[in-house]
Amino acid sequence: MTEFAFSAGSKSSAGTKVILTSGSNFNSAKFLSAEELSSLKSAARSQQFEGKAGSFVEVYNGKTRIVAAGTGSKPTALELQILGGKLYKKINAEANVAVYVPADKKASLSVAETAYNLALGIELGGYRFDKYFTKKPENSYPKLEKVEFFGETPIDAQGFNAYQAVAASVRYARDLCNEPANHLTPEIYAADIKRLEYLGIDITILDEGKLHDLGMDMLLSVSKGSVNSPRVAVLQWKGAKDRKEFDLGLVGKGVTFDSGGISLKPSANMGDMKGDMTGSAVVVAAVKAAALQKLPVNIAGVVGLVENMPSGSASRPGDVVASMSGQTVEIVNTDAEGRLVLGDCLWYIQEKFGVTKIIDVATLTGSTMMTFGFEYAGLFSNDDKLSAQLEKCGELSGEKLWRLPVTADYDKLIDSDIADMKNTGPRLAGGITAACFLQRFIKPGVKWAHLDIAGVDKDEKGHPLTPKGATGFGVRVLNRLLQETK
Ligand code: BES
Ligand code: MN
Ligand code: ZN
Repeated sequence: MTEFAFSAGSKSSAGTKVILTSGSNFNSAKFLSAEELSSLKSAARSQQFEGKAGSFVEVYNGKTRIVAAGTGSKPTALELQILGGKLYKKINAEANVAVYVPADKKASLSVAETAYNLALGIELGGYRFDKYFTKKPENSYPKLEKVEFFGETPIDAQGFNAYQAVAASVRYARDLCNEPANHLTPEIYAADIKRLEYLGIDITILDEGKLHDLGMDMLLSVSKGSVNSPRVAVLQWKGAKDRKEFDLGLVGKGVTFDSGGISLKPSANMGDMKGDMTGSAVVVAAVKAAALQKLPVNIAGVVGLVENMPSGSASRPGDVVASMSGQTVEIVNTDAEGRLVLGDCLWYIQEKFGVTKIIDVATLTGSTMMTFGFEYAGLFSNDDKLSAQLEKCGELSGEKLWRLPVTADYDKLIDSDIADMKNTGPRLAGGITAACFLQRFIKPGVKWAHLDIAGVDKDEKGHPLTPKGATGFGVRVLNRLLQETK
């Protein structure tokens, strides 16, 4: 992680100086010397730099590298974060960088908010997962250690805490998702989650025996084929101590590896299924972010951690299992395992905590991935208000959601001939019938939204805020919602 500092004044001795600008008339106060400013101006002129969002111009005078970063006019928080992600690529070969943030009367964000968002973008864009390299490539390895912001008006360092919390939590989620499944079994994962107690989060780990006693046979049917026994982690963040009730329940799919089970997946890219626990990581990270910010909300989080493997003890297609809710399920396809895990976790969180508003997050279906590609996550809900709020939070945070229907006509497609329901419908509308399955585990009157993040959980190319690999999609939109809830 990069160290961020927020300084008064405008004098910096850093070897690289960055100045933000919305046009080609630089306002640099004393941050740049007269010489530095005039060489930057002439470079801007010759390169027709106009300060457009995400555009850069730079000069080097033999001693100092000076970079002007265009914000465009009235940049939003998200646009500034994206600029930060792009800026990271320009500056990551330097150890110390100074950034000047001028006051812009026309801007909608303050100098401080501009700096915070830029820093958040640097943290998100600068993420990398390199723990398994025994040799780090000399020349391409980032050197960036410290970024110091100089504001035209003073920047309160405390104000950055909430942004830092989000950055740290997204990075934590990405670390978990990038971790190979042999290093992140349900047992190891649960122990990692348990460490978060230091933040004041109450965490209980339910082991296989306990899950059996609770009647979570539907969840257990998924882990039966694996030598790695399942866990369910139960997290409670009580930021509003004067209230007993929970404002929100979060449920996450934590399939540490999804081979498909007896309905085995094809081998091409099967390794990607180490990331089938992304929903759970996003839930845990969102609770972590709330705790880091000490948000005045009460949240319960339940994540089901299991490995889906084929073996002599694995569930077979055609098996019928009971769920904690009492409803029975015919397992038509052992690769539709996420909903089996989530159904029991959804029931548990309602029984145990009496939550009346729930959001679940899961890499649930290839169908939703085919629908939206890498742009939007699927949103399914029984509540228009919650949906609208989530869509808005998605737009603002850059983790975009698009709603799909969950209606009775789809729901009847998962009726079974020999049990209360089956775990897959016909081939079509797979994302929707999966949501219908989950909805059967929501009690009457409970508001519920389901985020199917299959696809957006990974970035195959890399973008300014999401380097190639796990994205941690969902942490920022949930954080936004939780900030609004307080
Ligand atoms: N984990 C997968 C869904 C998935 C696919 C996530 C691709 C990310 C990328 C899920 O458990 C699954 O296998 N779903 C099946 C369901 C089918 C058997 C009804 C699917 O979508 O193909
Ligand atoms: Mn599967
Ligand atoms: Zn899965």
